[in-house]
Amino acid sequence: MTQIFAHRGSSGMYPENTMRAFKEAEKTGCEGIELDVQRTKDGVLVVIHDEFVNRTTNGRGAVASLTLKEIKELDASYNKKTWFSHNRIPTLDEVFQWLQGNQLICNVELKNNKVRYRGMEEEVLQKIAAFKLDDRIILSSFNHQSIILLHELDPTASIAPIYSKKGVNPLLLATTTHACAVHANYRVMTQAQMESCQRAKVPVRLYTINQEPLLEQWMNMGVSGVITDFPERAMVVRNNLLN
Ligand code: G3P
Ligand code: MG
Repeated sequence: MTQIFAHRGSSGMYPENTMRAFKEAEKTGCEGIELDVQRTKDGVLVVIHDEFVNRTTNGRGAVASLTLKEIKELDASYNKKTWFSHNRIPTLDEVFQWLQGNQLICNVELKNNKVRYRGMEEEVLQKIAAFKLDDRIILSSFNHQSIILLHELDPTASIAPIYSKKGVNPLLLATTTHACAVHANYRVMTQAQMESCQRAKVPVRLYTINQEPLLEQWMNMGVSGVITDFPERAMVVRNNLLN
């Protein structure tokens, strides 16, 4: 059965990467959430997609140039202000604490491909251990050196390189990064590539699939996971296929 991950939470309907979006995702009954991690000036891991706060909040500036106190003053529902307000940027700790009270799988995407946050890999692994979430976290990144480092630091960690370029061989990528899965933009994945991963028992998770026909198509092909802005929609599609 294809697992459903809410991309930045239920971000199609709620402000992305906020506790509200994660809690709404949980209500849909999907298996997991995906979130993005950056680091503040004072070294705190926070959940936000961009390197800058400009797009998703009422503030300006690089995450790495703002303190946690400054980050916490921002409203992360800025680009959906008509419907929502006062959604703070969560820390990774806050999300992990909430995860302790449910059964969701959490795909933590390390956003260290543009800003090289030194030591981010160790910090995330330490937090996973501290919150005892080892069996429910998938670590992913577009930075494949970071994936290799994660494996070196903890060979038992569930890791997955992400890619969005055509022509990448997913099975080769998984092998060279010592990963147990691959995450790909669905637009660049072919049926033949997915089948070769299936034969090798390497799970493939595809992002960001939002339209029903596409969700149905990939679920029918047996993709391991879909990462979607609309988990409730994906749940309906999957239920219809199962019944
Ligand atoms: O992890 C899958 C997906 O989130 C990667 O792209 O830019 O939405 O973080 P992006
Ligand atoms: Mg992401």
